[in-house]
Amino acid sequence: QQHLLGIAPLHPDEIRTILDLADSYAEAERADRGHARALEGLTQINMFFEASTRTQASFEIAGKRLGADVMNMAMQASSIKKGETLIDTAMTLNAMHPDLLVVRHPHSGAVDLLAQKVNGAVLNAGDGRHEHPTQALLDALTIRRKKGRLHRLNIAICGDIAHSRVARSNIHLLGKMENRLRLVGPATLMPAAARDWGVEVYDDMAEGLAGCDVVMMLRLQRERMDGAFIPSEREYYHRFGLDAEKLAHAKDDAIVMHPGPMNRGVEIDGLLADDINRSVIQEQVEMGVAVRMAAMDLLARNLRAARMEQGVMA
Ligand code: CP
Repeated sequence: QQHLLGIAPLHPDEIRTILDLADSYAEAERADRGHARALEGLTQINMFFEASTRTQASFEIAGKRLGADVMNMAMQASSIKKGETLIDTAMTLNAMHPDLLVVRHPHSGAVDLLAQKVNGAVLNAGDGRHEHPTQALLDALTIRRKKGRLHRLNIAICGDIAHSRVARSNIHLLGKMENRLRLVGPATLMPAAARDWGVEVYDDMAEGLAGCDVVMMLRLQRERMDGAFIPSEREYYHRFGLDAEKLAHAKDDAIVMHPGPMNRGVEIDGLLADDINRSVIQEQVEMGVAVRMAAMDLLARNLRAARMEQGVMA
C-alpha cells in the first residue's frame, strides 16, 4: 500500500503484518531498548484540522522515536483561515517534499482526496465519521495481547455508533478477523444500514453484553450530530453507561476499552474506567505509539522501494 487511508482495503495478512511489527515495537518500548532509525532522513508533517490529544501526540512521538523530522502544522494558524482550500494547502506542502503526511479532517473522504494530490504517503488520522484506521489497529493489538488471539471473540461496540469512525474501522478490522460483533446503543444513534454489516444490533446493554469477551465503549460525538436526537446525559448513562452492574452481563474476564476522550459518568463509570483489573484504556494509549511506528515504518519501506524503482533516492 502507498497510503493508510482505512481498514476496509486491507487484507487480513496486511493487518497481521502491521500488528506483528507493532508488537515488537511495543516490547522494545517496554524494555527501553531503543529502535532502528527506520524513518531517518524522512520528513513527517502532521496536519490536524480537528482537535486531538492521543492521535497527534502518539504520531509525533512515533515519528521522533524512528528518527523522522516531524513538523506539526498549526492548522488554526494556517492560511486555511484566510480561505485557502484543503487541496491548495496539500499542494503547497507537497512542493516542500514531505515523505509522510498524517491528516485528520472533520469531513469523511477529505483524507482520500488529499492523498490523490501528494507524492508522499498519507496516513488517515480520522476523517469525519468514515475511518480511523490506526485506532482500530491499536485496539486490535490491545485485544490480541490481552486475550491471546484476535479471532472468535464476542465483541460489543457500544454507544454512538452512527457518528463514530472508530466503530466503522473496528467493524471492518474485527469482522475481517472473524469475530462475532454486536453493536449496542439507542436506535437514534444506530445507522439504519447497521443490520446489513454482518453484525448483531441491540438497544439493551444486558442483552448486548451477555457473554462478551470485549466491551468497547464510545463517546457521544456531539460535534458530528447535526440535528440528531441527543438524549439527556443522565438518561443516557442510566440506559447505556457502562458500570459494574452492566459489565456483570459480560464474561468474568471481559476487558473494557475506550478510544478516548472519555466522558466519565456519561458513557462509562469513572471507577470502572480506572479499574486496572478490567479496563485496558491506558494500554490502548500505549499501543497507539507502537502501532503508529509500525504503520509509518511499513509505508516508508514502500515509499523507498517505489523511489528506488523510479531511480530517486529517498
Ligand atoms: N482516540 C482518539 O482519536 O483520540 P484523540 O481525539 O485524542 O486523538
